[in-house]
Amino acid sequence: MIKKIKVSAPGKIILSGEHAVVYGYPEILSAIDRRIFIETEETGLGLDVQPVEGKLIVEQAIEIFKAKLGVSRLKNLKIKISSQIPIGSGMGSSAAFAVAISAAFFEFLKLPKNLKKINEIAYEIEKKQHGTPSGGDNTISTYGGFLLYRKETENIKTFLSLKTKVFSSIFLINSGKPKENTGEMIKSVRDFLSRSPQKVEKFFREIEQVTRNFLRFFSGEELDFGSLITRNERLLEQLGVVSPKTKILIQKIEKEGGFAKISGAGGTKENSGIVLAYHRDPNVLLKLAKVEQWDMFKVKLGERGVKSE
Ligand code: PMV
Repeated sequence: MIKKIKVSAPGKIILSGEHAVVYGYPEILSAIDRRIFIETEETGLGLDVQPVEGKLIVEQAIEIFKAKLGVSRLKNLKIKISSQIPIGSGMGSSAAFAVAISAAFFEFLKLPKNLKKINEIAYEIEKKQHGTPSGGDNTISTYGGFLLYRKETENIKTFLSLKTKVFSSIFLINSGKPKENTGEMIKSVRDFLSRSPQKVEKFFREIEQVTRNFLRFFSGEELDFGSLITRNERLLEQLGVVSPKTKILIQKIEKEGGFAKISGAGGTKENSGIVLAYHRDPNVLLKLAKVEQWDMFKVKLGERGVKSE
């Protein structure tokens, strides 16, 4: 019997805590309404991956899956990948892929659905891509919603679901794919930390403070969401992960009374990936984006994690 299954997993944005999370500080993430879809079907013809550029990473995922779960029946497969998440731009495309392929194999092999294991395997796949990721991206893509996430040690990661908030006018602007990948950006912060430990630790602590204020906001306290976004952006700029070009874009939003921050690893050479933007009057942002010809789109937060389609 030919089995055909389809799963999907969401991309993400980070409200606060990127980079600091690599060093054990807390982070708040949200799943978004942009997903990756993976269809898996049994064939008699070895491994067929569409698009073909995905073949290497699928092969790596199969090896990790086999090593972790000791299964050998992942040979004759046709895998079709389609995605609504821009690659390498801070929206968690690689983590969403890792989660979706892991879940697809679970379903394909009729293993009992186990989000914890799906997430663990996705983390191993992520490590192959980025070296020392925090695991936050794959965790939000697995569980969805909003999460407070923390990597205590390599083996101990804690997270908590936050009450879903309704954010009516959050936009994402694609400032362009950074020249650097996530691994390189993590390394640049690590180098900065070893050159100036006190300074960088202070930035991390201040980022943690912003994250805590976001938590108070989630708990219903009257805090200015926009100002928290701006404070977070300034700290990311001081960490050296925002390019001059992206700073200018963000200043234009601020000049019109809006708030914006990069979300994810960032980039300094030219582009910094996705920028999260908010304005109390969304029409101001829509007008600005039109004049500036930005690739801007509305995004829904708190979306569902990995699921069967
Ligand atoms: O740009 P992204 O989607 O790879 O996000 C990375 C977030 C970092 O904190 C910079 C790294 C991590 O592993 O958490």
